[in-house]
Amino acid sequence: MELKNIGILGCGQMGSGIAEVAAKSGFEVIICEVNEQTLTKGLSKIQKSFAKAVERGKLAAEAMEAALARITGTVHVADLADCDIVIEAVFEDLATKQRVFAELDQLVQPEAILATNTSSISIAAIAAATQRGDKVIGMHFFNPVPVMQLVEYVPSILTSPETVAAVSALGEALGKTGVLAKDSPGFIVNRLLVSYLIDAIRVYEQGLASREDIDNAMKLGAAHPMGPLTLADFIGLDIIKDVADVFFEEYGESRFKSPPLLTRMVTAGQLGRKSGKGFYDYK
Ligand SMILES: NC(=O)c1ccc[n+]([C@@H]2O[C@H](COP(=O)([O-])OP(=O)(O)OC[C@H]3O[C@@H](n4cnc5c(N)ncnc54)[C@H](O)[C@@H]3O)[C@@H](O)[C@H]2O)c1
Repeated sequence: MELKNIGILGCGQMGSGIAEVAAKSGFEVIICEVNEQTLTKGLSKIQKSFAKAVERGKLAAEAMEAALARITGTVHVADLADCDIVIEAVFEDLATKQRVFAELDQLVQPEAILATNTSSISIAAIAAATQRGDKVIGMHFFNPVPVMQLVEYVPSILTSPETVAAVSALGEALGKTGVLAKDSPGFIVNRLLVSYLIDAIRVYEQGLASREDIDNAMKLGAAHPMGPLTLADFIGLDIIKDVADVFFEEYGESRFKSPPLLTRMVTAGQLGRKSGKGFYDYK
């Protein structure tokens, strides 16, 4: 099945990025938010990102105008009824996702696919809120979507091979490289990355080296674009702790146990870049 009309639910950090990439790739996009205020904010994020691409010479001004004309914003979820696929990018909360999937299931055509951009929630648990488990799949983009090349496709045990094939073709048309992962916490990237990041925090806590030396060691010795403590600050220490807690509960392995320093920093509101302080100072 060819997917032409793309609906997106949520115009936050990820939804706006997915809309930008889809419109730039020639797709008609309709994006839904909870109210006019959040919709305006999300759409202006898309405009700014496009304008920056034009400024940097990565996109022609006419291409930007054409792409922007392909994006329609709405605050009425019913406007997504004719989409071939809806990609959900609302808050990372199971009850919220189940509620919107149940609503979408009633609304869209029987052959439409419902994809979720969840980072950590079970795809099967989201699919259970619908009557079309075979057409529900994880489509995990990375932040910032216009820059990051990867998308993880995550079928649940209910998802059909046709759905996997259709979203893989869509990902390719969006210029992304896809990988296939099982429906288990963290999929591929976060499963590996989070244990690395919390190990780096543990190493710092144990006084093995300074934060700068830990970061420089991985930048210069492993050719990583940024060190683990800088990356942890960038992602947000609260998010890393939440994900580590989910892994620890699921797998029971001590390597996923949140280091005491991480727990203390989150409790104290030192969440990284977004709070102005984490392993480094951003004020
Ligand atoms: N930020 C990241 O780095 C990242 C990376 C990969 C995946 N994700 C996942 O993507 C999803 C979205 O994350 P985000 O960072 O974009 O969050 P965000 O908070 O920036 O955006 C979420 C948006 O969804 C909107 N929303 C909430 N309920 C809605 C509803 N019922 N209908 C329409 N809009 C609704 C909110 O108003 C908000 O604008 C989450 O599941 C998250 O785990 C995030």
